[in-house]
Amino acid sequence: MSEPSVSILIRSGSPTVAESALSNTLGLPLISSAELAPGNPEFYLCYTETGLSLNANDARVSGAVVVDFDSKKLTRRAGDGLRQQNLIKAVGLKKRQTLRVLDATAGLGSDGFLLARAGCEVRLLERNAVVHALLEDGMQRGLKGSAATRDAVSRMQLTRADFVQAAAQLDSYQVIVIDPMYPLRPKSAKSKQSMQLLQRLLGETADAPGILELALHKATERVVVKRAKQSPSYTGLSPDVSFKGSSSRFDVYLTP
Ligand SMILES: C[S@@+](CC[C@H](N)C(=O)[O-])C[C@H]1O[C@@H](n2cnc3c(N)ncnc32)[C@H](O)[C@@H]1O
Repeated sequence: MSEPSVSILIRSGSPTVAESALSNTLGLPLISSAELAPGNPEFYLCYTETGLSLNANDARVSGAVVVDFDSKKLTRRAGDGLRQQNLIKAVGLKKRQTLRVLDATAGLGSDGFLLARAGCEVRLLERNAVVHALLEDGMQRGLKGSAATRDAVSRMQLTRADFVQAAAQLDSYQVIVIDPMYPLRPKSAKSKQSMQLLQRLLGETADAPGILELALHKATERVVVKRAKQSPSYTGLSPDVSFKGSSSRFDVYLTP
């Protein structure tokens, strides 16, 4: 399947330094709003007052993806009950203050951020250039955000890389978290608008074969795999323990 077309929208007459730099980094064309034709390109990136945003160039698709670690939703999730959340329980933070965690499939960074808010040192890998750019932009703004967000983002380190290809060069981590791609069910489409847009951008990209085996080999304590609540275990391997929530589940594999 071919990659969807993505351009960078110039907001005024000539490109800003940031727009040109992004175009160079990603190797994506700059385009003015007058040049946008329906569906061509399929997506565009645009700097707005709230940050770098990904938009579908399709009037039927509303909303845009912006990484905002100070959003109401993440602030609520990072509130008092953070340590009781399944993600935090699954990595085994318990009474420990910190853990070295590798988020091997960073995406828009919500899980990585929550782990950092809970005290973990989090290395994030993201292989898709556009998703990486959105997350990098969100992290830069996070460093100027609320005190709690600044503190958490300072414990996050993002690299554009494919976990499978980079694994041999990586340091060891106590915990590796994997959130593989899975098809979104129509029921959850409304509440997960940003994930839906991300899914449209990433299309049917297959998970790298062997990602779980590799993670089990690299992690010194455990591997956590995020799944949709009803999905079978990843690659059919039974987890040692699972933490089930209303829509997702965290399967934990202890390393020998
Ligand atoms: C379901 S999303 C992750 C969402 C993330 N947990 C969050 O909280 O936003 C999966 C992401 O992993 C990335 N990905 C998939 N396989 C990867 C790999 N082998 N190495 C690095 N990134 C990968 C995809 O590009 C995608 O952005």
